[in-house]
Amino acid sequence: MTGPPLATARHALGLVSDGQTLGLGTGRAAAAFVDALGERVRKGLRVRGVPTSVATAGQATRLGIPLVTLEEAGELDLAFDGADEVDPRLDCIKGYGGALVREMIVAASARRFVVLVGAEKLVASLGERGKIPVEIVPYALPLVRRRIETLGLDPVVRVGPDGAPYVTDNGNWILDCGTRPLRDAAALERAIRVLPGVAGTGLFLGMADVVLVEEGEKVRVMER
Ligand code: A5P
Repeated sequence: MTGPPLATARHALGLVSDGQTLGLGTGRAAAAFVDALGERVRKGLRVRGVPTSVATAGQATRLGIPLVTLEEAGELDLAFDGADEVDPRLDCIKGYGGALVREMIVAASARRFVVLVGAEKLVASLGERGKIPVEIVPYALPLVRRRIETLGLDPVVRVGPDGAPYVTDNGNWILDCGTRPLRDAAALERAIRVLPGVAGTGLFLGMADVVLVEEGEKVRVMER
């Protein structure tokens, strides 16, 4: 994907109806969608958004998109987000941008989860791009790091520009777990998720209903 992912954002907007409540993802593709949505809201579309990060909440607020909490929203009609890897079954790895836990909560709260990506995110097997982000409670680092190593991954604490651990919107840290292409993503996801102190993994398995792939000016639609 070279320029802003406008084609997928426009296509995604076509799935939205007046009166709906929408999950708003985090990252470049999601931001392009939120920009397009803001434009439509300015022209009169009535929707409510549930943001997956402080950054997206700020963007939506600046654009005049009304926001509600997950509690106020109840079940969402649709959630829109980007992804870092998508395999042929529409399973995804997310979280390179650090918002994976809220992204998964919001996606799971929606009747349909729509993923927007460039063609460079399509992989034959999850793990091809080399890492799985895992959000952890900082106190649990020694335990979780050791256990993840025994699963054959290479976990490294993500740091910010100042060299200190990157802190998520939930006050947690991210372990970027170096990996090779996965043979059994579901088994690995279960093994990581049960570790005490793990708040969530970037393995979004069986969640995406639709993936919109930006291919130049065109959009390829992949459906479950
Ligand atoms: C944020 O935590 C991520 O899951 C993003 O949604 C994902 O990394 C895709 O981001 P881009 O659209 O910026 O590549």
